[in-house]
Amino acid sequence: MAAKHFDVLVIGGGPGGYIAAIRAAQLGFSTACVESEAYDDPKGEVRLGGTCLNVGCIPSKALLQSSEHFDNARHGFVMHGITVDDVRIDVKTMVKRKDNIVTQLTSGIKGLFKKNKVTLLSGHGKFTGGGEDAWEIDVAGEAVMAKHVIVATGSSPRHLNGVPVDNKLICDNAGALAFDAVPKRLGVIGAGVIGLELGSVWKRLGAEVTILEAMPDFLAAADAAIAKEAWKVFTQKQGLDIQLDANITSVKAGKKGVTVDYEIGDENRTLECDRLIVSVGRVPNTEGLGCEAVGLKLDDRGRVAVDEHCRSNLPNVWAVGDVVRGPMLAHKGMEEGVMVAELIAGQAGHCNYDAVPWVIYTHPEIAWVGKTEQQLKSAGIEYRTGQIPFAANGRALGQGDTTGFVKMLADAKTDRILGVHIIGTNASELISEAVVAMEFHASSEDIARIVHAHPTLSEVMHETALAVDKRPLHF
Ligand code: FAD
Ligand code: NAI
Repeated sequence: MAAKHFDVLVIGGGPGGYIAAIRAAQLGFSTACVESEAYDDPKGEVRLGGTCLNVGCIPSKALLQSSEHFDNARHGFVMHGITVDDVRIDVKTMVKRKDNIVTQLTSGIKGLFKKNKVTLLSGHGKFTGGGEDAWEIDVAGEAVMAKHVIVATGSSPRHLNGVPVDNKLICDNAGALAFDAVPKRLGVIGAGVIGLELGSVWKRLGAEVTILEAMPDFLAAADAAIAKEAWKVFTQKQGLDIQLDANITSVKAGKKGVTVDYEIGDENRTLECDRLIVSVGRVPNTEGLGCEAVGLKLDDRGRVAVDEHCRSNLPNVWAVGDVVRGPMLAHKGMEEGVMVAELIAGQAGHCNYDAVPWVIYTHPEIAWVGKTEQQLKSAGIEYRTGQIPFAANGRALGQGDTTGFVKMLADAKTDRILGVHIIGTNASELISEAVVAMEFHASSEDIARIVHAHPTLSEVMHETALAVDKRPLHF
């Protein structure tokens, strides 16, 4: 039987891969996408959407929303004069709702593949040979040929030596999104994005949460002022027990739960918990991809080595998303997927890595784009800064949600916006204005001159831009 032949073959059906496939098909290429994982599909069929839709962004945000409603019903509504008696959580219903959203979205992508005529190939994909004219990929024992290959195999949770993840007592992200009950005592290793988001979910639902972090600084990637405020809110107001500078020495699972031994400085400590989440970063998926068969080069961290246009060292082989350098974020992978498809079509695809927003969906949310103040200082760039609290905003007061602030950093000479950092309600939505501003090289003066609807939270962005020039009107 003659091998199947495509113009473009994408390996991996996560956000980087499925978007690359759809865009390539839109541009007129015969396109296939290979996916190997069924995740929790009841029929055992492969599911599209990758980590993000199945065990990442989407399910975590569904649980964050449910747990926030629960928390509001217990504590947040009182200030509005609303008392709700006998608030209870049915974890099975909450998790089922999350599963339904995942099913709806993952099957939606299968629908988008049909609409755009992308062929879905089920099975593990790996390079077996070929070259510039056509690469040969083995998909579950069948040879498939393609002129262009886009590697979008994503990432998997990093595991710690001697810490066996069973996704029952000791969980990675997949297990932590599927608890069947609220643990009384939850331990988390790693105070990064997953630790804070999922720690928040189970804390709001009533768990005692202890997060052990190896680094001495909290949220080191964020602007220091944001990290300081977040620390205050999470530890003092919300009661998350976050312990920094923790060196884990042993983790044991037993009948009664999990025991974590660790040291902080010279002090030995022990954490007893009913369940443990291990969230210490992610590693790129390149094993079993056949890189060595064709000479596909990896970088020093095991990621596919690519240039700024996601070109690998091999002709017509590209790589996007978590499997390449840069932040492991769904929107970054999607943008790279579009860029690569357009470059294959001879268009001027681009991805502006300087304007990729970060969002942490805790409450308050944290979002930023561009440089932090500490980065500007260490680069010796002169800047001006403005900072306005949500407490000075009428809409935030009306909502009863006034924690946090917006901070803007602008070039001292040109006034061009260099970074915007938000901690506060709806920061995930508010950051978009800053991303647009940075994409179009706007200045703080530009934002200051834009009409912002009243009363909205976006007025805090407006005031912050005015504050850069030391002329806020409402603060
Ligand atoms: P993936 O989504 O990992 O998809 C890769 C796919 O390729 C997988 O389905 C895998 O099965 C498949 N595959 C791998 N190897 C092969 C092979 N050889 N053959 C066939 N198929 C293969 N990012 C955000 O931007 N916002 C968020 O809110 C957010 N929340 C997150 C929450 C959690 C709990 C986690 C774990 C991650 C979150 N992320 C978030 C990160 C986001 O999920 C990833 O950045 C994104 O999924 C990466 O997309 P990708 O396409 O590169 O890889
Ligand atoms: P992370 O990189 O955000 O955080 C990992 C944390 O674990 C770090 O603070 C690190 O110092 C700590 N750590 C590492 N080894 C440790 C050890 N031995 N003991 C104690 N602490 C240790 O990684 P995380 O939370 O696993 O998430 C993975 C990635 O998924 C994120 O980097 C992000 O790219 C993505 N993600 C994005 C989200 C979003 O955009 N809202 C949400 C969740 C995940």
